[in-house]
Amino acid sequence: MDKFMIWGGERLHGEVEISACKNAVLPVLAAALLAETPSVIKKAPWLKDVDTMLLILQALGVTTKRSFEGDVTIDPTTLKSWEAPYELIRKMRSSIYVLGALLGKLGKAVVSLPGGCVIGPRPIDLHIKGLTQLGAAIEKRHGYLIAEAKQLRGARIFLGGPFGSSVGATIDIMLAAVKAEGVTVIESAACEPDVADVALFLNKMGAKITGAGTPTLTIEGTKELHGTEHTVIPDRIEAGTYMIAAAATDGDIALLGAEPRHLEAVIAKLREAGVEVFEEEGKIRVRSTGTKRPTDVTTLSYPGFPTDLQAQFMALMSITSGVSRIVEKIYPDRFMHVGELGRLGADMTMDSNSALVRGVPSLSGAPVMASDLRASAALIIAGLVAEGETLIHRVYHIDRGYVDIENKLANLGAKIRRVKAN
Ligand code: EPU
Repeated sequence: MDKFMIWGGERLHGEVEISACKNAVLPVLAAALLAETPSVIKKAPWLKDVDTMLLILQALGVTTKRSFEGDVTIDPTTLKSWEAPYELIRKMRSSIYVLGALLGKLGKAVVSLPGGCVIGPRPIDLHIKGLTQLGAAIEKRHGYLIAEAKQLRGARIFLGGPFGSSVGATIDIMLAAVKAEGVTVIESAACEPDVADVALFLNKMGAKITGAGTPTLTIEGTKELHGTEHTVIPDRIEAGTYMIAAAATDGDIALLGAEPRHLEAVIAKLREAGVEVFEEEGKIRVRSTGTKRPTDVTTLSYPGFPTDLQAQFMALMSITSGVSRIVEKIYPDRFMHVGELGRLGADMTMDSNSALVRGVPSLSGAPVMASDLRASAALIIAGLVAEGETLIHRVYHIDRGYVDIENKLANLGAKIRRVKAN
């Protein structure tokens, strides 16, 4: 397994290009199988999770092609199976999107249950509830979800869960509802830009979705969808990660192609922490000139502060003088990074779903273990500011969701090297 070696202490400076959004491109790829003709997803990010989604589509018989520039063609005319195997589904939770897409397209789906993961339990009750309300009969057998619907019919679906709205359930239900007979209304729908982007893609395919990006989504079912071309939105979590890295290293960087409207909570929190953020045409500039202030953060559904940046913000607060409190409201157990940040010298106390962070003057490099995608990003940020060498094990997590992170960081002046597995 590859590792990252980081020599801390460099201030990030320069420009970095933000890639297309992982959490939007994955459902968009699944959505493409709903059409009767091929679609092209322009400049899809080169990520392990994208590779996994393409393998799942191939296992269903869909023909996929990727150009040198990264454009992905999905040809659903060769779709021949409704069964998504465990070996692929287990690699990535978002493979559950083929459930909604296959139900919409074929009225049948056999999809391995995705299971939990290191950031905590990840139930799919809301997916099942919504699809059942559309008329699908769903049962769990031998680790698989077996779903069938003679005819999907539009319904009113309330999707609020114990931790707020669900991005995945909103999208999965939308994927099935676009082919249902009649009108579906999703109340308490997730408002994340990822949901709006998938809706935009589906509308370009001929679907009739209104209200995407608001808590009430209305979907008028259509009989046939056609292929289209789409460029996915920029990745706000990748952008937010570089913004926090710039803040932590007292750097000055410009994020090219980032969308400030998707990052308002993050920009507000960085400004509260004393970091300068400039929203310019087609880019965001982040500059930190030294002293920062402790800042409390509570993660919430969009437009709140994203859970996917909680770990990175904690790394920043760990070297910010004073005490800050970080509360996790989406995944109450998403604190695997706390112990590893502690190995680098961070001082934190956990209490249920919150962490009290007492800023220390400096961190010191050490070997650490990446536990999941965003925790890995937090460890990289900590490694960039730590004195001496930080060796991060298990960086395959980061390859799932950050395009070419070591080269992007190196171009910004970081001293980072991938140590290849033998
Ligand atoms: N939930 C339920 N029941 C469900 C579905 C979700 O109770 O049926 C709960 C979850 O356990 C969680 C909350 O609702 O407490 C929100 O979960 P959501 O369904 O929104 O998450 P998701 O769709 O599984 C996506 C992203 C995650 C991101 C969350 C929250 C993808 C592929 N994943 O997951 O991204 O953290 O939304 O914004 O879009 C990541 O990129 O590192 C990542 C984990």
